[in-house]
Amino acid sequence: MNLHSRFPAITDLRARARRRIPHFVWEYLDSATGVEATQRRNRTALDKVLFDPSILHGAWEPDLTTTLLGQAYPLPIGIAPVGMSGLIWPGAEQMLARIAAQEGIPYTLSTVATQLPEDVGPHAGDHGWFQLYPPRDPGIRDDILKRVKSSGFNTLVLTVDVPVASRRERQTRGGLTNPPKLTPRLALQAARCPAWLNGIRKTGMPRMRLMDSYSDVKTALPSTQHIGYLLRTSPDWDYFKSLRDVWDGLLIVKGVGRADDAARLTDEGADAIWVSNHAGRQFDGGPAAIETLPAIRAATPLPVIFDSGIGGGLDVLRAIAVGADFVMLGRAFHYGLGAFGARGAAHVLDILRQDMISNMGQIGAKSFAALPNCLRSIQ
Ligand code: LAC
Repeated sequence: MNLHSRFPAITDLRARARRRIPHFVWEYLDSATGVEATQRRNRTALDKVLFDPSILHGAWEPDLTTTLLGQAYPLPIGIAPVGMSGLIWPGAEQMLARIAAQEGIPYTLSTVATQLPEDVGPHAGDHGWFQLYPPRDPGIRDDILKRVKSSGFNTLVLTVDVPVASRRERQTRGGLTNPPKLTPRLALQAARCPAWLNGIRKTGMPRMRLMDSYSDVKTALPSTQHIGYLLRTSPDWDYFKSLRDVWDGLLIVKGVGRADDAARLTDEGADAIWVSNHAGRQFDGGPAAIETLPAIRAATPLPVIFDSGIGGGLDVLRAIAVGADFVMLGRAFHYGLGAFGARGAAHVLDILRQDMISNMGQIGAKSFAALPNCLRSIQ
């Protein structure tokens, strides 16, 4: 099947994934916190970033390549960390790591993924980033850092926008626990999704295996109080400093929403700033992430990475136009996996590429550097 003819947009993949992923897992992937106003604001604010297309440019192919932190990339796009990735689609971590290695883009493995860094790193080649939820115990922290480094992950992404567990009301209603347990209600949902269930039969019921290796906790916890919260702390500036001291690779800080924080992180030795509001999953009372981007761009000379609500290639261009150097997507790749497995995730990248080529042609921007000058307004 030619996926482009029947699934030309990420929303098409989302619709198919919704039918193929059990409802309790879907609620984990697709939801945000509160009444999901921040998730909606992310969308609305992206739609308000407008360009003034110019005309009579003749025929040309836009340049989609870029450089980030000393590395050349064919696209300004990477795969964001997603917790419990292998529950959303069995085998997700390896599938996404392989796509990243093939396409030459970054793949970020989450601390609370279902697979170990040792089992995923080799698939990502040079393109593996590791996302860290900060362990409280320095011994555990250093052991995790050693393990991820020796598994081939040279870039660390410290997430700072999860100081506490968020309510995640929709996830709670969905019934996902940690470790996941198929109660009769959830087993019934799973039975309606044979492709997912077949995959799970092969991988076994997914767990947060990295966390498990440090914890004797066997009891089922509500999803938002996963084992990670027992192991981790809410980091402060001293924690950041000590992490900077022990980690000798690149260090990116994810979840930045304020210009003053970006400026301070720059002074304290971060290598890049990742602007994100966790796609609305943590706090329902903040601005759209894209609205925070221009001031952060102005506050730091460091590379700026962006995620939160990107729904297609035009959104990637919007983020770049208002200050991002690089754009990450998490949910979108998992919609692709849910719809068509690894082929669907690769298709997401194809959609983004085609969107960018088409929209840059319309705008008249031959490269990303031209985009800010083509911007109309942010209202
Ligand atoms: C989430 C955590 C795991 O958003 O980052 O679900």
